[in-house]
Amino acid sequence: MLTAEQNERLTQTSAGTPMGNLLRQYWHPIAATAQLAKNPVMSVRVLGEDLTLFRARNGTLGLVGKRCAHRLVDLKYGFPSPHHDDAIVCPYHGWAYSRTGKCIDQPMEPEGSTFKDKVQIDGYHARELAGMIFAYLGPSPVPELPAWEPMVMADTLRYIEYGTVPCNWVQLQENSPDRKHTQWLHGHFSKWTLNRRGVGEDDPQYQSTMRFVDFPTDEFFMEPFEYGHIRRNTIKGSDKNEGSYTVGTPLIFPNMNITASGARFTMIWRTPVDDVTTMSWFLYGVYPGEGVEIPLQKAIETVEIPTYDKDGNLNDHLTAVQDHIACFAQGAILDRTKERLGATDHDIIVWRKTVMEQLALLEAGGTPMNIFHDPEMGKFIKVPLICKDDPNRFGAWSLTADRKYQKRSATVNYSVPELPIVDEMEAAAEKGAAAWTKRRLAEYEAGE
Ligand code: FES
Ligand SMILES: [Fe+2]
Repeated sequence: MLTAEQNERLTQTSAGTPMGNLLRQYWHPIAATAQLAKNPVMSVRVLGEDLTLFRARNGTLGLVGKRCAHRLVDLKYGFPSPHHDDAIVCPYHGWAYSRTGKCIDQPMEPEGSTFKDKVQIDGYHARELAGMIFAYLGPSPVPELPAWEPMVMADTLRYIEYGTVPCNWVQLQENSPDRKHTQWLHGHFSKWTLNRRGVGEDDPQYQSTMRFVDFPTDEFFMEPFEYGHIRRNTIKGSDKNEGSYTVGTPLIFPNMNITASGARFTMIWRTPVDDVTTMSWFLYGVYPGEGVEIPLQKAIETVEIPTYDKDGNLNDHLTAVQDHIACFAQGAILDRTKERLGATDHDIIVWRKTVMEQLALLEAGGTPMNIFHDPEMGKFIKVPLICKDDPNRFGAWSLTADRKYQKRSATVNYSVPELPIVDEMEAAAEKGAAAWTKRRLAEYEAGE
């Protein structure tokens, strides 16, 4: 339970608020490379600010204010300037804006006019990595865009999902230290939704759901690490030698999360659109390991999470949608003065404490965690990943009850399973599992 003041401090994201100031110290995903490939100009809203994202003629990215300063036309109707390499132009009278929001051309004004030099709209930083476009709205000097391992690791196949959730970002982030929800939300509730859809027991998703019902999180705890917290757990029937316990899964400060299971991994960001809307970004990947050939991936495919089906019904059988439902069902901004936290909410309290400490640190003039100015951090940041760092290569949930490889791992469920890339990723994961099993068998026979 928090006081009303604490809850406000935690959840308000606009400029000048304590959390708004903290979140402005970080890069946040706002769009996908694939979206700009379809249309080089789009509206974005992040941390309560309405902006225009564009790719200029020379391929560079710009992130400027929503409206042209002249007659306030929405620049989402603009286009890359045909007369400048790195600018956007307004469709009405051709005023051009550079990537910094500076007006650099007013073609209808008299020749020699210096009026343009007095015109400036907002201009922020945009950078691209792992098929996503990240925005930085904070003070100078601009920190490195952190290259977390799942974003840059080699020998992987990746794909992206994103969805808009009508609630405050903290509800989504608190879903990650909330370990016990998996058994109920992705187990019993998921089973209920699959039963209603007539999904049979031989379906991989049904089996994956039953893993949560039959093998719930057993022992679990969260502890601090360099970039946030590591969550460790056993499940009923597993022991402390498996990756879910020995390696764990990192919760990265302030709004990221990484899960891994078998050959698969998922990195998640929660980008505040404003105080009552959040964008969830999922970077799904497989790391099948040595000896498994994977197809060359030219671009990272991106799809929107289908929260509703074509008839307007919630797709509540999809893992990501289940999490989103649980979050927005708490209200637009969860009133934490009224909640009743139990013993299993311990890690939520730990996470909040860290956030409050980091807020206080920033206010005292210090540097909160995960703000990097070392260029090496823009190239590669190693994080614990079960799929790479567990000598057994498997998290507890990636095996079936009889210790076979679990298709469609219970902790990594794609929302759009009919995409070819998802089939390719699953095939690579299974090949990786088979190669690993063969290798372990050979080691065993050789007495190692
Ligand atoms: S309104 Fe944009 S150039 Fe006139
Ligand atoms: Fe979940």
